[in-house]
Amino acid sequence: MNKVDVLLGLQWGDEGKGKIVDVLTPKYNVVARFQGGPNAGHTLVFEGKKFVLHTIPSGIFQGDKVNIIGNGVVLDPAIFKEEIEMLKEGGISIEDQLCISKKAHLILPTHRLLDAAYEKAKGKAKIGSTLKGIGPTYTDKISRNGVRVGDMLGDFEGKYNKLKQRHIAILEQYAYDYKAELEAYEKEWFSGVEVMKQFQLIDSEQAVNDMLVEGKSVLAEGAQGTMLDIDFGSYPFVTSSNTVTAGACTGLGIAPSRIGEVFGIFKAYCTRVGSGPFPSELFDDAGQAMRDNGNEYGSTTGRPRRCGWLDLVALKYSVMINGVTQLIMMKSDVMDDFDEIHAATSYKINGEEVSHFPYDLDENDIEPVYTTKKGWKKDMTKMTSADQFPAEFNDYLDFVEEYLGVPIKVVSVGPDRAQTILR
Ligand code: GDP
Ligand code: IMO
Ligand code: MG
Repeated sequence: MNKVDVLLGLQWGDEGKGKIVDVLTPKYNVVARFQGGPNAGHTLVFEGKKFVLHTIPSGIFQGDKVNIIGNGVVLDPAIFKEEIEMLKEGGISIEDQLCISKKAHLILPTHRLLDAAYEKAKGKAKIGSTLKGIGPTYTDKISRNGVRVGDMLGDFEGKYNKLKQRHIAILEQYAYDYKAELEAYEKEWFSGVEVMKQFQLIDSEQAVNDMLVEGKSVLAEGAQGTMLDIDFGSYPFVTSSNTVTAGACTGLGIAPSRIGEVFGIFKAYCTRVGSGPFPSELFDDAGQAMRDNGNEYGSTTGRPRRCGWLDLVALKYSVMINGVTQLIMMKSDVMDDFDEIHAATSYKINGEEVSHFPYDLDENDIEPVYTTKKGWKKDMTKMTSADQFPAEFNDYLDFVEEYLGVPIKVVSVGPDRAQTILR
């Protein structure tokens, strides 16, 4: 029986998961999303084209692979429909390739409005949510009030209206003016429901396990990153799902013993969108250079991403929580013109140096302690094999590998599918 390999982000999301899932897909029969929803924005670039996927797995462009949206995902039919239309315009038709778990939960129009109402009420303490309704939808799932994809095949109106009325009562409590927005969005949403019904709605946990028995290979595609995990991220500035390897078990219905390789993906530096602590954040020219060189603007919201040095303390914690077996370093090219490169190797907390990841990442008390490496000062974007790497770059790789105790097997030197180097 085969195992499921998992690819997931080790930082605050946007590490380049979409690109690498696309690169790895030819080796697999099945690609499956297991958590998150349209808060994700996964970018793929190939043959001069660029696609951003929010709900649909990033294996969709590699021939007739099976792509599964697992039970752990939350889906907004209106966004799903937009994505299908975007793919159709690009000449890609996926009705036969995409399956959706009947147990995945639906993001209702009122979930989005609740997200907005809650964020508004938080004022300065807001999470910086993507406002896609993720938090309220997972809240209803856990509190046993949610509406699932499988409900579309039964008394859908009844279930939908019951939950909608619950939400309206809350929105009224928050004095949130919902009427016009709701009416407009509901139209799109119900039209999305009709589109979703044309796809195979399945018991995906059964399908995935059956395929493993048949010897098929499965790649699970994470969304967000470990530092945004509901349990292990910088709570409360996190998303509302388990983004870590264990999330693939609950989000697809596979046993822990069925997990194979764990590909941990990180940028050669760090970014974060939304609020919350970020110890190695930069507010200077170096941070701006990362933003400019790396085009660090959100794929889902367009917001400028906060940038900073690589944080090895946080990364080591992520490697531990996920049981990472192979590392993938992204966006190395963004640092091509840096004279020096810094990486946080410990933190000073209230004057005391610690190398473990602390309970509270409150940026006021944490001062990163950096190790400095020489920059490679060469254009890496046209390199095609590891023997072309500059000595300083190899030095940086060795240093990161040694700190984390896991090999870096893939290096990415540009956004295109082709700009990927195996080691
Ligand atoms: P994801 O959410 O993890 O899939 O990542 P995003 O797509 O949100 O953000 C990654 C961004 O970096 C996208 O714009 C990619 O096209 C781009 N990208 C991916 N790998 C590289 C790389 O190695 N170098 C550069 N310069 N850009 C990259
Ligand atoms: P991908 O899969 C980066 C962040 C938001 C916010 C917090 C909570 O593209 O890496 P939510 O909408 O989930 O309630 O927002 O999490 N966030 C992401 N940041 N990449 C993502 O996904 C993200 N998904 C959510 O900015 O700080
Ligand atoms: Mg993204």
